[in-house]
Amino acid sequence: MVAIGSDHGGLELKAAVSEGLRQRGLDVVDFGTDDDDSVDYPDFGEKVAGAVARGEAVCGVLVCGTGIGMSIVANKFPGVRAALVTDEFMARMAKEHNNANILVLGGRVLDAMTACRFVSIWLDAIFEGGRHQRRLDKIAQVEADVQAGRI
Ligand code: RB5
Repeated sequence: MVAIGSDHGGLELKAAVSEGLRQRGLDVVDFGTDDDDSVDYPDFGEKVAGAVARGEAVCGVLVCGTGIGMSIVANKFPGVRAALVTDEFMARMAKEHNNANILVLGGRVLDAMTACRFVSIWLDAIFEGGRHQRRLDKIAQVEADVQAGRI
């Protein structure tokens, strides 16, 4: 299952990306928001990031106006690697080097076709492992050390 969510600033782009994901044959669960009333992005970011952190979703997509707020929220969750991307190179690197499990997009930054292209590039890319896995292991260690109050 792919989890997706947005605030009002990402509503339109979320609809387009959801459609693109479903056209790829993916099972998409939309955690809202569902209309253009002003809402607080942390309320939707935590639903998607929580689903990914708990392993209920294999990956997720989050959209707010810039993508910045959603990135900040999602990366609070242990095991979540949320990447805000603004070009094709970043979309590919987000998987190849960072193994990002949440892609974050700016609804007021990208048009629908561009955003769907970034999502496809990210989904199709393959994590390279090796030295990049070592770096992800260090991130996991940082998370554990922060949680335990060691750093
Ligand atoms: C909402 O106006 C806007 O602040 C939000 O969508 C997002 O861009 C925050 O980072």
